[in-house]
Amino acid sequence: MSPSVTDHVVGRALSWADIPRLVELEGRLFADDAWSAPTWWAELAARPRRDYVALESDGELVGYAGLDLAGEVADVMTIAVAPEAQGRGLGGELLALMASRAREAGAAYLLLEVRDDNAGAKALYARAGFEVVTVRRRYYQPGDVDALVMRLRLRDERDGVGDTNG
Ligand SMILES: CC(C)(COP(=O)(O)OP(=O)(O)OC[C@H]1O[C@@H](n2cnc3c(N)ncnc32)[C@H](O)[C@@H]1OP(=O)(O)O)[C@@H](O)C(=O)NCCC(=O)NCCS
Repeated sequence: MSPSVTDHVVGRALSWADIPRLVELEGRLFADDAWSAPTWWAELAARPRRDYVALESDGELVGYAGLDLAGEVADVMTIAVAPEAQGRGLGGELLALMASRAREAGAAYLLLEVRDDNAGAKALYARAGFEVVTVRRRYYQPGDVDALVMRLRLRDERDGVGDTNG
């Protein structure tokens, strides 16, 4: 972990006031798939089924992640770390928090979709224990990019005890 991100805080709920900063970060992080302000309004309005958290460093929003909680299966809706804060373990921390919150909400599995050309995110998920369960061919347009559907088991099949960290 880099010594330059020592005082980060993770877990505050995202609020309406974060939307301008979220839209700015989306534009820098998701070339073809950036969420607009109306999308963020709709997503935050969909709580408590949706669960979005902030990651802050020096009081500034530098990352975020969110879940769709739907009983047995939870989905990671988004996960992102500002370019200047990447590579310091913060994405891994957000992902571990998503897994623990999904487990606390009663989910047995955590699912997500990732572009096949997103090597960094795929490595992050594989390192956290996610496995590819199916491929959606040419799912992302434009570009004909496949979507990998990845899954993490949150509970032991035998006794329901969690088998991941976080
Ligand atoms: C994907 C993302 C959230 C990772 O955040 P991060 O803070 O850089 O990730 P971390 O520093 O916690 O990395 C954790 C692990 O993920 C893997 N990883 C992360 N970024 C990587 C990259 N660019 N290349 C290769 N591996 C990478 C590594 O295995 C890393 O572990 P290591 O450092 O011990 O090798 C961040 O790059 C991001 O916001 N990208 C743009 C948005 C995006 O693509 N989100 C995912 C959509 S599905």
